[in-house]
Order: sequence, then structure tokens, then C-alpha cells
Amino acid sequence: METIRVFAPATVANVVCGYDVLGFAVNEPGDEVILRLTDKPGIRITKITGDNGKLPLDPQRNTVGVSVYHYLNGIDKPDTGVEIELHKKMPIGSGLGSSSASTVAGLFALNELMGRKLSSCQLLPYAMKGEEMACGTGHADNVAPALMGGFVLIRSYDPLDVIRLPYPSDLHCAIVFPDVDVPTKDARRMIRSKVLLKDAVTQWGNIAGLVSGLCMHDVELIGRSMKDIIVEPTRSILIPGFETLRRIAHDNGAVSFGISGSGPSVFSFTRDKQTSTRITNALQEHLKSLGVKSLSFVSEINAEGPKVLDQ
Ligand code: HSE
Repeated sequence: METIRVFAPATVANVVCGYDVLGFAVNEPGDEVILRLTDKPGIRITKITGDNGKLPLDPQRNTVGVSVYHYLNGIDKPDTGVEIELHKKMPIGSGLGSSSASTVAGLFALNELMGRKLSSCQLLPYAMKGEEMACGTGHADNVAPALMGGFVLIRSYDPLDVIRLPYPSDLHCAIVFPDVDVPTKDARRMIRSKVLLKDAVTQWGNIAGLVSGLCMHDVELIGRSMKDIIVEPTRSILIPGFETLRRIAHDNGAVSFGISGSGPSVFSFTRDKQTSTRITNALQEHLKSLGVKSLSFVSEINAEGPKVLDQ
């Protein structure tokens, strides 16, 4: 029986102004999957740890199981026997791409054992099947950076056109997860479906500014472009003390501040690890004063994506 253990990284989707089209991977946290090929046909999820019993073992209701099922059908090997252990090493419903990290770890692991039949780009539609099940839509701004590493732009969903962007090598990320419940499905339903043209103009100016800043390695331009007037005003209501957190982040040297994915995690870009650590400490202190528990992570951008830990 062939076995493999794979890590896949957490991700920050939207990157403030790029709802559903921008995302990047971080070094920590992330999830691990141990996957085995077996003689008995079918997909079995044998164990899930670190989820407080929240995730289903039924492969048809689990994002890893669903994406693995579609992958095996896609490569015309539907009768392959697969056993999956999922080890959650990050909070669920945090806005850090928790389901994507699991899905990508599982898919990447299986693809390795199947002799790397597909490229990362070819794996992406299968990973999106997992997101579709978890969130109601198959958005790619978590799964694409988790799978490909780095900073990713989804230029188009139909046809799928995914572009890896350059970024300044000194960009660091400070993440704080306030422990309040914000399911992505609900956070997506909150957003108004129509946008005023004048708001769209502001937003696409900022997205273009952010992408330009990344390409030109201009951290100041990156910071001043990371503004979201469409989604953040609605979603930030769910995050305790959001505007105060923003002020604290900037007072402590943040280049930017905003919601990670659908929240409740928030993140800042900084130019160094020290500033990131100062920001996470200050943000956590404020959340504590509000009676809100939190976790923090400081990371550079993860360029690698998933990696094999044991084989
Ligand atoms: N772009 C998605 C959203 C990311 O904001 O709903 C969800 O993690």
C-alpha cells in the first residue's frame, strides 16, 4: 500500500479589494493529509483530527472526499481505492481558507501517488468542486494560491484563467483570527449583488493599483490600493472592534489592513517580521480587552504551495 503525507498552506483570499479574484498563500497555518491507495475500490475518510468533531467523515459531504471523487472520475480511474486521514492544523471558518487547505492537501497527495498525472493548473477545477460544496460557489481565490503557492490573480472564471503574480520579497503578513463564528456561506449571502458604477470605478482602480504595486515591488502603492468600498463595509460588522483594529494596525506600522477572505480573520502587510509581530500582539491585546479570544500568525508569502512531508 502506497502512503503519502502532504501539507497545504492557509491562504488570504480577496486581499481586501479583489473579491474572488486575488489571493496568496502563507507559510502557516495549514493542514495535513495522509493518503493511502488501497486494493478496495472507493473513497474512505478514516480519521479527522483537530476539527472538534465538526467535519463529516462521509466522503460525499467532505470537501476532500468530493474533490478526490471528481479527480478520479476526471482521470478515468473511478474504481481506485483511497483512504484519507485529515489532520486539521488551523481553525475552521476563520477566513484563512481552511477547507481549501484540506482539499488541496488531499488532491495534491493523490495526484503524487497517481504519478503526477495532472499539473497544478489542471488540479484547480477539482479543488474548486470542494469549495462549491463548502460555500455554495466554486470560487478559486483560496484554492488557487493553496495549490500554486505565491500570489494569484483569477483573471477569469469562464474560461478559467489564473495568473501567478510577482511580489516584493520582503512582504510579510500579520494575521489575527478573532474567535467568532463567520461561516463563508453566510458571509457571501450578506453582500449586495448590485454595485454602483462610481463604486466600481473606485474598486477597479484599487485592484489595478494593487496588481501594479505587486509587479513594480512598490510597497507604498500596494498599501494605498488596498481599500474595499464594496464588500468590507458589510462584512466588517461581524468583526468585533474592526475600525479600532484597523487604527491599531496602522499605528503599529502596517502597510495595509483588511479582512482575510470572508473573515473573521484580519491581516496586515508589513515590510518585516518584527512589525508583523508587534501588530499581532497589539491586535490580540485589544481583542482580549473586548473579551474575544484570538490566534495569530506571522508569515512571509508562501511561494511553494503544497509539499510532501513523508512518502
Ligand atoms: N472570495 C471568497 C469570499 C473567499 O470572500 O467569500 C472565501 O474564503
